[in-house]
Amino acid sequence: MSAPLLLDLYCCQGGASRGYADAGWSPVGIDIDPQPRYPFPFHQGDAIEAMATLLRGDSLPFVDPDGQVQHLWLSDITAAHASPPCQSFLNLGAVNRALGRAYEYPNLIGPTRELLVESHLPFVIENVEDAKAHLIDPVRICGTGLNRPIRRHRLFESNFGMTGIPCAHGRFVEPKYWTGWRPNGEKRLSTVVQVYGNAGGQHEWPEAMGIDWMDRHGFVEAIPPAYTDHVGRQMLAHVQAVTA
Ligand SMILES: C[S@@+](CC[C@H](N)C(=O)[O-])C[C@H]1O[C@@H](n2cnc3c(N)ncnc32)[C@H](O)[C@@H]1O
Repeated sequence: MSAPLLLDLYCCQGGASRGYADAGWSPVGIDIDPQPRYPFPFHQGDAIEAMATLLRGDSLPFVDPDGQVQHLWLSDITAAHASPPCQSFLNLGAVNRALGRAYEYPNLIGPTRELLVESHLPFVIENVEDAKAHLIDPVRICGTGLNRPIRRHRLFESNFGMTGIPCAHGRFVEPKYWTGWRPNGEKRLSTVVQVYGNAGGQHEWPEAMGIDWMDRHGFVEAIPPAYTDHVGRQMLAHVQAVTA
């Protein structure tokens, strides 16, 4: 039996998709930017427009990793995941103003949820902790709880019962990961790997994140696949229980 299809909205280079694939799903990604490193079938476009197209009863063209075009209908899809961009929650307004950028980032969580509810699919919406007020009863996952030296806390809302992974920060107490130079020239080591901006030792990122196909931008945006492996197994169990 082939793996059930999971639509990954806002897929970037596929951290979340990889974990769902590990859990037994067949991911198809949608992102507004070209994502040549995304390792599964891919549609480039606006996620809201793509969902609206599927809900209207039209098909979406996808390109698989060996360049074949295929068409996807809503009835082909078993579940969906969405990682709307988090920039609107990260208090970057001041940074943008300082850099002379006139735009603000839109909050896409609400519009995305509306379309996912309308689809009647089991779904997950993932985001950063600063987005908590915009998510409904999310659970939290911490990399340390999955035995990884990563404290990348992420929240997961779902429309089915799901558990998170509590922190286990105490597992990682030895300061051995590079954090970069401080403005005062001081160099500090961290107990966990830092994956953001120009921080951390980038050679430490692949093993800590469980990712070996991304560039720097992909790493900074991604969640470790182990997070969605945990989520995807619960989603699969839910779908199998409903089908049974
Ligand atoms: C936080 S990243 C997702 C990371 C991904 N879940 C992972 O684990 O690798 C958000 C992505 O949303 C994409 N994006 C932003 N606005 C979008 C839109 N309107 N439609 C589709 N994708 C969009 C960005 O290009 C970016 O790749």
